[in-house]
Amino acid sequence: MKFSNTLIYWYLQNRRELPWRKTKNPYFIWLSEIMLQQTRVAQGMAYYLKFTSKFPTVFDLAKADESSVLKMWQGLGYYSRARNLHFSAKLIANEFNGKFPSTYNEIIKLKGIGDYTASAIASICFDEPTAVVDGNVYRVLSRYFGIKTPINSSGGIKEFKSLAQSLIDKNKAGTFNQAIMDFGALHCKPQNPLCDTCPFSDSCFALEKKLTKELPVKEKKIKIRKRYFNFLVIKTKNDRTILSERKGKGIWQGLYQFPLIESDKTINEEELILSEDFTNLFPSKTTLSLFNSKETIHKLSHQHLHTQFWIIETKNSPEINIKWSEIEKYPVPILIANFLEAYQDKK
Ligand code: ADE
Repeated sequence: MKFSNTLIYWYLQNRRELPWRKTKNPYFIWLSEIMLQQTRVAQGMAYYLKFTSKFPTVFDLAKADESSVLKMWQGLGYYSRARNLHFSAKLIANEFNGKFPSTYNEIIKLKGIGDYTASAIASICFDEPTAVVDGNVYRVLSRYFGIKTPINSSGGIKEFKSLAQSLIDKNKAGTFNQAIMDFGALHCKPQNPLCDTCPFSDSCFALEKKLTKELPVKEKKIKIRKRYFNFLVIKTKNDRTILSERKGKGIWQGLYQFPLIESDKTINEEELILSEDFTNLFPSKTTLSLFNSKETIHKLSHQHLHTQFWIIETKNSPEINIKWSEIEKYPVPILIANFLEAYQDKK
């Protein structure tokens, strides 16, 4: 049997009876889908019933004051979602005469609505064949088809969306979407999936290869550290500068750089001049100018370097002894090489 037929057959026997499943009214579907992004179905149901009895139509929500909307949302978290809901309700009530947009392309323009919610509303309410991809869908598809692409990578997001789109039953789009989500939530569960009684057991990749625990694959997102670099690009009257070798371990070990002052945020000229590192280097009054008015963000795997290049014109000194004409001989990080190129061009 076709994937979608097996799935829908399972759904018709096992579907959850939920209050928003009795309607195709996009206002109710919209509310339920936004709430279910915050919480599980059991808790979401209580919020849904409370919210829809206080605001039974989009006009009621539109004319409510924000604090009463937030009050009804209290405990769900992510209050920006409630604010967006309120904002879009006002737009629908006041600009569209209460008529909810009826295509994916229109729906996704509403504030607070992304691909998932637009697909859910377009398919459930307007029968448009746009596939939803939520956590349940990732799990079902990665296990059944044996897809190891991380679900939180940009490649994975595209791959799963297009696979779901190729599987959707074009005549029963809303049913298919809800079926695959319910199947993931109730049967193909994260832990202890019910493989013994699974309608896909004769063709599931993960079951055959004993990989249900390994799928789906999620990429570990590393925490990116932001650093703020101020390079001091010195230029003396006799065209010399300071460039020194980076000591210690690290990716730039052995490369050369301009004197560097690291700060804990982006700083302005005054803050730089007043910093201890700067006064140690330049005890007397010095003029400087910022070369890049928009800071350069150099992205490394674990760090983003927010970088400013400060041009300092100063008097000759024996310690400032690297000839600008020989600067190309020195190996420098690409961040500095890019600066040098832009600087030479401007000169
Ligand atoms: N999770 C979020 N929305 C859902 C829906 N419409 N059906 C099943 N599970 C869901």
